Amino acid sequence: MKAIQVGLLGIGTVGSGVFNVLRRNQQEIQRRAGRGIEIAMVADLDTARAQSIVGSAVKVVKDAREVIANPEIDIVIELIGGYGIARELMMEAIAAGKHVVTANKALLAVHGTEIFAAAHQRGVMVAFEAAVAGGIPIIKALREGLTANRIEWIAGIINGTTNFILSEMRDKGLDFDVVLKEAQRLGYAEADPTFDIEGVDAAHKATIMSAIAFGIPVQFDKAYVEGITKLAAQDIRYAEQLGYRIKLLGITKRVPQGIELRVHPSLVPARRLIANVEGAMNAVVVQGDAVGTTLHYGKGAGSEPTASAVIADLVDITRLHTADAAHRVPHLAFQPDQMSGEVVLPMDEVVTSYYLRLRVADQAGVLAQVTGLLAAQGISVDAMLQREAGEGEKQTDLIILTHSVREGTMNGVLAQMQALPTVLAPIVRIRKEELA
Ligand code: HSE
Repeated sequence: MKAIQVGLLGIGTVGSGVFNVLRRNQQEIQRRAGRGIEIAMVADLDTARAQSIVGSAVKVVKDAREVIANPEIDIVIELIGGYGIARELMMEAIAAGKHVVTANKALLAVHGTEIFAAAHQRGVMVAFEAAVAGGIPIIKALREGLTANRIEWIAGIINGTTNFILSEMRDKGLDFDVVLKEAQRLGYAEADPTFDIEGVDAAHKATIMSAIAFGIPVQFDKAYVEGITKLAAQDIRYAEQLGYRIKLLGITKRVPQGIELRVHPSLVPARRLIANVEGAMNAVVVQGDAVGTTLHYGKGAGSEPTASAVIADLVDITRLHTADAAHRVPHLAFQPDQMSGEVVLPMDEVVTSYYLRLRVADQAGVLAQVTGLLAAQGISVDAMLQREAGEGEKQTDLIILTHSVREGTMNGVLAQMQALPTVLAPIVRIRKEELA
């Protein structure tokens, strides 16, 4: 049978990885897919560079629309990124009856509802394994491997840049700004790292996982997003003394009132496997009612790890594209007419526990004032640490770990604490996840 014909839009780091892995492993991949998979056409603004990667046998064009218009092309891989031209091209490819493979988490998290609806109507597949956690087959795991389960929660380290920065802060005792500069110098962080360090990239991925886990539409606008820019080395140190590591987690959880969807730094018990995921690695913990806890670990970015996910999608499509569209795996795991209307909860309604660091006057009664405010709202203290004040020092750090409480309640208590004359600096609050 003739090889399935693929058109590639954008041949940067991931695109060249796809080309190289497909060429290197073509026989193995063909034995799995049942027919060959051939990149027949590439579109890239830098045609000379693109041609030097793919060689003279592959047609290279500047205009992506030439690829979409080519009736020979069965699958379009979109590796341009962003919400602009990538969205237009994806919608055009779907309208032209092409299957689409993409790594574009931002586009799917924001416009996924429109894209999946168009694909469903046109009877084509939009595959996006590479959009979440790079080489880790977490989409496959959630949509298929864990399909028997009622998913309870997912917690993931799904941004390698921030995990690298947090690992360095912990290892070297350095503050965020210093490590970010070093990470940029070494090429671990982008020149504009905003999406990574502000938690946006992780929130895109968490949004996609949330939709698949719970059968709800993608709702990036409902996600709570907090990055790592305000984290101080001393909080990492205090957390360590209390038996915790600080990780940027993407969390989505089903609770009786609805769905939690949030990204923020979290204290995680140091004994949990996920707390020991270091450097740029990714890991996702999925809690299902039947399977219990599963941990999925691997590289979340990079040329060939991401290509591994893109090619897995190509193989899936190759196997399934002649199948009746109704018998394919639904885009968001649940049949489109079986999606749930469960609401994504506002952050005030989320129940979690907290790490608090207060800079306080070192004088009698301060501890009683602070814990009195907690007690008045029924917030129970789990652990406490007070840094011994130095010789002649009149201030000290008070670290408090609380048991679970509604975020809205905690916000009220924090406002009262902050107003105490004996609290001398802005209170640091970091959420804590036991992941039990
Ligand atoms: N910038 C992402 C990260 C990789 O640092 O993990 C692509 O999503």
